[in-house]
Amino acid sequence: MSDPVSDPISDPDAPLPKGIQLTPYDPGFMAHPYAILADLRVRAPVHDDDQFKRWYLTRFDDVRAVLRDKDMSSDPTKANPGSFMGRLATYSSETRIAGTRDAMIFLDDPDHRRLRGLVNRAFTPKAVELVRPRIREIARALLAQIETDEFDLIASIAGPLPVIVIAEMLGIDANDRDDFKRWSNAAVLAFFNPFRSEEETTVGVAAQNALNQYFQRMIDERRATPREDLIMEMVRAEEAGDRMTDAEIIMQCNLLLVAGNVTTTDLIGNGVKALLEHPEQLAKLRARPDLTPSAVEEILRFDTPVINVARNVQRETALRGCPLHLGDTVTASLGAANHDPAVNPDPERFDIERVDIEHQSFGGGKHFCLGAPLARAEAQETLTALLERFPELQRSPRAVRYRTIPGFRGMAEFWLQGR
Ligand code: HEM
Repeated sequence: MSDPVSDPISDPDAPLPKGIQLTPYDPGFMAHPYAILADLRVRAPVHDDDQFKRWYLTRFDDVRAVLRDKDMSSDPTKANPGSFMGRLATYSSETRIAGTRDAMIFLDDPDHRRLRGLVNRAFTPKAVELVRPRIREIARALLAQIETDEFDLIASIAGPLPVIVIAEMLGIDANDRDDFKRWSNAAVLAFFNPFRSEEETTVGVAAQNALNQYFQRMIDERRATPREDLIMEMVRAEEAGDRMTDAEIIMQCNLLLVAGNVTTTDLIGNGVKALLEHPEQLAKLRARPDLTPSAVEEILRFDTPVINVARNVQRETALRGCPLHLGDTVTASLGAANHDPAVNPDPERFDIERVDIEHQSFGGGKHFCLGAPLARAEAQETLTALLERFPELQRSPRAVRYRTIPGFRGMAEFWLQGR
């Protein structure tokens, strides 16, 4: 019998993976996602995943086209109730996880454009450069707290850094940070995860309610006493033209928190793992810190933090002979697209000097990641500070533990030894 972990595609006639087999709940997929996706790209680039009721795309060109297609909706309420995206809609209304309805990521134009337009100024590359020195300071302070030779990269730096950065941008008081971090971690586990356990749901809903009340208090406080932060900017926009309601401000705060939290943690974690598994690349980066930005791009491509995103069809069409009906879910595998040899030659080679990297790790089209410049800066500064702090860094013998939120690829624990 074949072992799915060590031998992912031993049989070219094996049934195509479906449903859970294309999520991190499956040990084989967890261990070898890119081999499994490569096989799918060759054998069924528009794959009918009838278990999860979705079309699963793995070619770079198809993924890009779907993300840019104005007839593809991001709004789960427009999907067929039985489809993968439709289940996300029913699910979020049943469990009343606020933030999954009116967050811009789940809206189409004109609401999407209006809400994105109200916050995007804080996330431009220029705005992020102003935050960069503070990101560096936070990274160094977190690393300075590590007192043992062995440490968990996720708990000590990759996890806390993105939350601290966005909390400061929003204007969260430092005294509230621990509560804020606890709520945001619990909410993240529930927000995008249609397979969460009952316990995760209960904890997630409670945390989400606490966060919502907290954000409402922050809005009220700013109305009484204005100050300079992102929440204030949103309150001003609301007052200037009545274009954003309190509920919408709260939803966007939630989204910023959730969308920038595990994703950046995973980028940092996956990046350090890739570097340690390719010592010659790590040595090159140590010798040439100017390669850090291109190393981060290669990490985004090589081990993609958001491994897939979804849309639903709003106009009947066909792709590679497959009929895409109204309301069908189309899942675009960003991880598969990034490893498509048609675009990135020799895709399984990790090369921090790779030229003309083409990746779709931040999505594409109108929903292209708003936080991409921030995520890049956070990863760059963390990598630089980590390598400076530890001239010798290696993996600990402890096993890596992955998180299991479908759509995300990243570790829950990653132990290192550093000196
Ligand atoms: C490595 C880190 C990150 C990755 C890989 C990532 C990935 C993505 C992807 C793939 C999308 C598109 C989703 C879709 O099309 O359905 C997206 C959207 C988004 N991201 Fe990120 N993200 C990261 C960090 C951040 C950060 C730090 C923030 C902000 C604090 C952020 C805020 C957002 C927002 C607001 C959207 C929705 C944009 C819209 O709907 O117009 N992300 N992100």
